[in-house]
Order: sequence, then structure tokens, then C-alpha cells
Amino acid sequence: MEFIDVSDLVGKVSFLNQREVLLNQGAAMYNGRNIRLRPFEKADQKQYREWVNNSDIASLVDRILPVSEYEHDKWYSSIMDRQNCVFFAIETIESAKFIGAIWLWDIDFRHRKAEVRVLIGESSSVNKGLGTEAITLIQSFAFEKVNLHKLFAYVLSKNQRAVRAFEKAGFETEAELKEDRFVNGVYEDVAILACIKR
Ligand SMILES: CC(C)(COP(=O)(O)OP(=O)(O)OC[C@H]1O[C@@H](n2cnc3c(N)ncnc32)[C@H](O)[C@@H]1OP(=O)(O)O)[C@@H](O)C(=O)NCCC(=O)NCCS
Repeated sequence: MEFIDVSDLVGKVSFLNQREVLLNQGAAMYNGRNIRLRPFEKADQKQYREWVNNSDIASLVDRILPVSEYEHDKWYSSIMDRQNCVFFAIETIESAKFIGAIWLWDIDFRHRKAEVRVLIGESSSVNKGLGTEAITLIQSFAFEKVNLHKLFAYVLSKNQRAVRAFEKAGFETEAELKEDRFVNGVYEDVAILACIKR
């Protein structure tokens, strides 16, 4: 894995500059074995909207259909403007194919923790270990470079593929929130999976 060294800057720069430090470096690309994380670009937006407008995916990532182009544009701008979020595209190393996204959401610099959200949208790339690899990469980034102490994820309990991918990356179930989301007419349980830097 290759990392830009921002660790000496974290804590010294203002909160507002943290994300700029993390994202606006030309080298903000993190290589694993099969995939890399790279900054999410405007050009990725169209494909990403198609994925979140796929009904099988939308309910898993808590989106309500359909996401209009206008709404999606606004979402993209808000993501790019957020100071406490780092949003990566996931692409294959072999062919530089954009297959999904993973991001640190609501980074809490005071308590050194953040939520991880992930989406492998390209259907042919699912179930091949790439989601686990992306989670492992963002984990290293979060712990080693952003100096976070804890990561967590909210996953529908019935979404066992996601639960398993987080578990393979070292996350453990910390709690189960009963009937926490109303999805397609049904109240669904949500698992909180978490991982602590050791
Ligand atoms: C969840 C997601 C990121 C996982 O990535 P992935 O690359 O598909 O998953 P991986 O191949 O790394 O691992 C999946 C594991 O779940 C297992 N699995 C798949 N379907 C399963 C099921 N129905 N029940 C139990 N386990 C299942 C696989 O066998 C594999 O485990 P194994 O390696 O021990 O055999 C990806 O599928 C995705 O983006 N799904 C849609 C969006 C989503 O659910 N996001 C999570 C919400 S935060």
C-alpha cells in the first residue's frame, strides 16, 4: 500500500483544512492487491447515480428511489464540500474500471472515529472479495493516516453479505438496533459493526 503522509499535519491544520489535506493531494490513491481507492470525480457521478437507482442496491444503502439528476448533482456538491467526509471511488487495478465507492462519513476528529459506508455497484464485481479489500484499505487509511481510533458501520441485519465483508475485515457486531429502518414496507433490524485500532 502507498500512502501520502498526512499524519504530521493532522491536529495541526484547522478542521476546515483536514479534508483538503486528505483529498487535494495529487497522490491520494491507495493501492491494494486487486483494487485501488482514488478520489471520487465528477465524471463518476453518472454511473454512481445508476447504481443507487438500482432498486436492489438502494434499499441496502438507505436511499429512496428515484434519485433525480438534480438531486444527485446537489448531493455530489454537498459531499465535496463536507469537511468531515472522505469519499473514494473504488477501481480495479487491472483495468482501472470504476466498480464502486467507499467513504468515511461524519469523521469525528475529537473522538477519533468515523462511519464507513461502502457500495460495490458493478454487479459482476460483487462477491469476489473486493468489498472486503476496500474496507481493509480504508481501515488502514483511517487508522494509519488520519489517526482515527474507531470505525463503525450501520448494516441491515439481513444484508449478510455486507455483515460478512465487514467481519472479514475485522469488524465485530457491537449492537443490533431492532426495527430501526422502514424499508419497502417492513421494519428492519440494523447491525452496528465496529472495529477498534489495536
Ligand atoms: C456489501 C458489499 C460491500 C460487500 O462487498 P463484496 O465484494 O460483494 O463482498 P466480499 O466478496 O468481500 O465478501 C462477501 C462475503 O459474504 C458472503 N456472502 C455473500 N452472500 C451471502 C449471504 N446471502 N449470506 C451470508 N453470506 C453471504 C460471501 O460468501 C463472502 O464471504 P466468504 O468470503 O467468507 O465466502 C457489496 O456486496 C455491496 O456493495 N453491496 C451493496 C451495497 C451494500 O450492501 N453496502 C453495505 C451497506 S454499508
